[in-house]
Amino acid sequence: MKLRAASAIGFILLSLVTVIFVSCQSDAEVEFQRYYSNGGAIYQARCQNCHGAHGEGLQALIPPLNDTTYIKTNKPALACYIKNGMKGKIVILSRHFEGEMPASDLAPVELASVLSYISNSFGNKLGIVKSEQVEENLKGCK
Ligand code: HEC
Repeated sequence: MKLRAASAIGFILLSLVTVIFVSCQSDAEVEFQRYYSNGGAIYQARCQNCHGAHGEGLQALIPPLNDTTYIKTNKPALACYIKNGMKGKIVILSRHFEGEMPASDLAPVELASVLSYISNSFGNKLGIVKSEQVEENLKGCK
């Protein structure tokens, strides 16, 4: 009898822990989905013309966004590039580009959304980029 009670309590505790764990995960998942889908809409409206629907870029003129190494290595600088524009020589997937991206008037939360989108599309898998992170990164713009 005692043993049964103990295992029942054990079972309840285990279920409780599972429920808490699962609901925490889905909170994070919901937040990610919100950033990602807002970012997708911003991408379509503000970036796709140049970088392409699949982040493929445009011939020798516009670099693609599917160089996972470049995106990963330069992640902290991307908010600056997108906000202030970008100019000069870069190498993406062994291709040389020397173009100019115009500055944008995107707010930190919009930058975070579009970064969450591109960092998890086109073969990239780098997780969420939050607004606070972008604000921090913008302080380091050169
Ligand atoms: C008018 C065309 C144009 C638009 C619009 C544009 N870009 Fe770019 N983007 C460029 C060019 C050109 C470069 C490369 C600049 C250079 O050669 O230094 C670039 C570079 C980049 C880079 C770094 C290089 C790479 O390929 O990873 C990222 C990231 C990027 N853009 C993301 C975005 C995002 C996100 C948006 C929308 C908010 C956007 N761009 C809008 C033209 C554009």
